[in-house]
Amino acid sequence: MTSLADIRSTFLNFYGRNGHEIVDSSPLVPRNDPTLMFTNSGMVQFKNLFTGLETRDYQRATSAQKCVRAGGKHNDLDNVGYTARHHTFFEMLGNFSFGDYFKDDAIAFAWDLLTRDFGLNKDRLLVTVYHSDDEAVNIWKKVAGLSDDRIIRIATDDNFWRMGPTGPCGPCTEIFYDHGDHIWGGPPGSAEEDGDRFIEIWNLVFMQNEQFEDGTMRPLDMQSIDTGMGLERIGALLQGKHDNYDTDLMRALIEASAHATSTDPDGPGKVHHRVIADHLRATSFLIAEGVLPSNEGRGYVLRRIMRRAMRHAHQLGAQDPLMHRLVTALVQEMGAAYPELGQGKALIEETLKNEEVRFRQTLDRGLKLLDDELAILPDGTDLPGETAFKLYDTFGFPLDLTQDALREKGRGVNTEGFNSAMAEQKTKARAAWSGSGEQADASVWFDIAEAKGLTEFLGYETLNAEGQIAAVVVDGQPAEVGKDAVQIVLNQTPFYAESGGQVGDAGTLKTETGMVRITDTKKVAGVFIHIGEVTMGEVRRGQAAVLSVDVDRRADIQANHSATHLLNEALREVLGDHIAQRGSLNAPDRLRFDFSHQKALDTAELAQVERDVNRLIRQNTTVETRIMTPDDARALGAQALFGEKYGDEVRVVSMGRRDGSGKGVDGHTYSLELCGGTHVSRLGQIGAFVLLGDSASSAGVRRIEALTGQAALDHLKTQGEALAQAAATLKVPAADVAARVKALMDERKALANEVAQLRRDAAMGGGSGQAADGVDVNGTRFLGQVMDGVSGKDLPALIDQYKDRLGSGVVLLIADAGGKAAVACGVTADLTGRVSAVDVLRAAVAELGGKGGGGRPDMAQGGGASVDNADAALTAAKSVLEGLS
Ligand code: SER
Repeated sequence: MTSLADIRSTFLNFYGRNGHEIVDSSPLVPRNDPTLMFTNSGMVQFKNLFTGLETRDYQRATSAQKCVRAGGKHNDLDNVGYTARHHTFFEMLGNFSFGDYFKDDAIAFAWDLLTRDFGLNKDRLLVTVYHSDDEAVNIWKKVAGLSDDRIIRIATDDNFWRMGPTGPCGPCTEIFYDHGDHIWGGPPGSAEEDGDRFIEIWNLVFMQNEQFEDGTMRPLDMQSIDTGMGLERIGALLQGKHDNYDTDLMRALIEASAHATSTDPDGPGKVHHRVIADHLRATSFLIAEGVLPSNEGRGYVLRRIMRRAMRHAHQLGAQDPLMHRLVTALVQEMGAAYPELGQGKALIEETLKNEEVRFRQTLDRGLKLLDDELAILPDGTDLPGETAFKLYDTFGFPLDLTQDALREKGRGVNTEGFNSAMAEQKTKARAAWSGSGEQADASVWFDIAEAKGLTEFLGYETLNAEGQIAAVVVDGQPAEVGKDAVQIVLNQTPFYAESGGQVGDAGTLKTETGMVRITDTKKVAGVFIHIGEVTMGEVRRGQAAVLSVDVDRRADIQANHSATHLLNEALREVLGDHIAQRGSLNAPDRLRFDFSHQKALDTAELAQVERDVNRLIRQNTTVETRIMTPDDARALGAQALFGEKYGDEVRVVSMGRRDGSGKGVDGHTYSLELCGGTHVSRLGQIGAFVLLGDSASSAGVRRIEALTGQAALDHLKTQGEALAQAAATLKVPAADVAARVKALMDERKALANEVAQLRRDAAMGGGSGQAADGVDVNGTRFLGQVMDGVSGKDLPALIDQYKDRLGSGVVLLIADAGGKAAVACGVTADLTGRVSAVDVLRAAVAELGGKGGGGRPDMAQGGGASVDNADAALTAAKSVLEGLS
């Protein structure tokens, strides 16, 4: 038997031999098409080659493309399990020509491969062509020798393929296989075409037109080919099966499911096994690409598929989580062709297990509620929408899961009721927001959220993506066009919106008509607001836009954010478990971290924290993110923000290893934090960590500021240069600078003292014409002097020295204190009974334009407005002595 793996490689090698580049499958999350939720055909990655927007160094390509059709326009989810050929995940084999060969070769290649390499019986094959495409009819006749009755002209869009409302398109020809008249059904175009006898196996599109938004269709400059053949379909055919789920690959997965649940793969649980096998593929491939379950966008489609499978596992009677146990079988089947499965195996298993453990907590109760409702529901009535909403809101049942459960019982759901219950909940959320007083500003964003849905964030995985402009807001009002300052909302974006301390992204947004420089990104009500300035042309609502995050800036922000997590843990280790985060900032140029701690960190503590963080950076381990409940996260040792409200699931970021016991599933994780931000993928990308210091932020809260990466190195460099300069000036090695500076300071102090002393000595030695030992006034020795270069505070010491020199007498000193006069008077102890220093001083001060002054009988001090009248002051002092009896 030819396995699906063989068929895949036979196909690729056939086209490879015929000059085609064998191109890897592109990701399931399209990077180049904002309107597509998932890649749904092989041509998606080549879209711009058909229109000539992009060229590559090959003109022929072939691929096996991963496709998901669940959510968005193409949604096969509801049918999976119940039909022979529906899948949420499938592989599309295709060959492509970009302006190289056209209809002739495309048909000849296909015919050759099917009838020679795959060995299909020619008589069983028939084709459809677009009704007006005579050229294709003639080629089929010539190449395959098909008779007219086996070339069916179809006038409908079935044979005119369009990627979407706009873009490359063209007529197509489809190849069908006739399984024989023992199976009911008629040829395409007939009334019985929906039967199972004639099965379409391959679609060859002759890409020759482009459809524009205004409804016009124009011929493309070049003619191209895009073909698509479902691997599972051709596989079934080549393996002699009628049902895709009977192919070797799908069968292996079904058997793994049967084995794990000890049930019969073909017994009453048959549908369940098929659902599980299909959904295992879709979920595993999505998780391998980094899509994680969430309540929005692609993450919610993933969750819907997962939970649908999990309900079917529950129906099989599986007591424990089942899905994660089947990943090994999937990797065995598909890991060789898609290495991302093997690489992501641990993440896939863990994500599936966490989701299933969680969902099981409410699944039983939800199903019981459903059964109770059904028991009292009159025959033939749909389940009320409110009940479906309760199942959704309280028990985590996506609407299609409830519909799937009811399908087995022949019932539906009143979806109108469901939608209005959902709308009511949104209105309540909006009303709750208005309570916060920001209603006026916020209402425009709520309106956008309601009309357009929430923004899907792609920036955990990519920094470049396309998005569709859902709204342009100018001066707070929705607008059609933006030309200057704008705020732009898109359906999806790689730009991170400010939250959790991490600043918003900056970058560029480009459309066909203009360019916007985005300076910041914020988030209100789940809507991402790109704030910017139109720098060229204009941008319009509805346009597709190419979004590019400023890569270097984001890398710096991420380095700071990841370093903050390491810092948080290092602080706990060095200072103790009481450390709790009180706030943080992760900007491109620095980080700031506030935490509860009573006293300043000493030098040794700071050094230890810095060393620990740098040690972790050098470990260069990978940073991992998981989704789990807040309770599970705490059980693993995760740090959560005190007082913060978390939803029913959180992102948990783990980084670093410790040898002793740590946190996390492996018990060796260094840091585990609840965090919605973005991070480096390996710790080495932080580069370096330098603490700038610690300060008080508020009572009981310390603040640490730090630098990482180039900023940290620049800082060290600047400091080093300053030190080198100081060393050169001091003419000592850098290591001796501190000791040298200390020595110089000591020396300076000693010199200053010496200078003061010399000044005093000089002052005493000098004089203004009066003998240093004074004059006799009325029997008392009086020494009065004006001092230069002496400050007021030197006077008392000088007075003492003069008193000593006189032995007995009165001393009056006047110093020039910057133009003003400082005055002091001293009286030796033997004379204080006769005369008070205060009286003499006051007499002098009065002449100097001062008032008062005071002290004791032996020492008084005061000041005057100027020294100009110093002589008069001395005379006044003498008169006091002359007046003594
Ligand atoms: N694009 C076409 C399809 O999806 C052929 O690959 O059918």
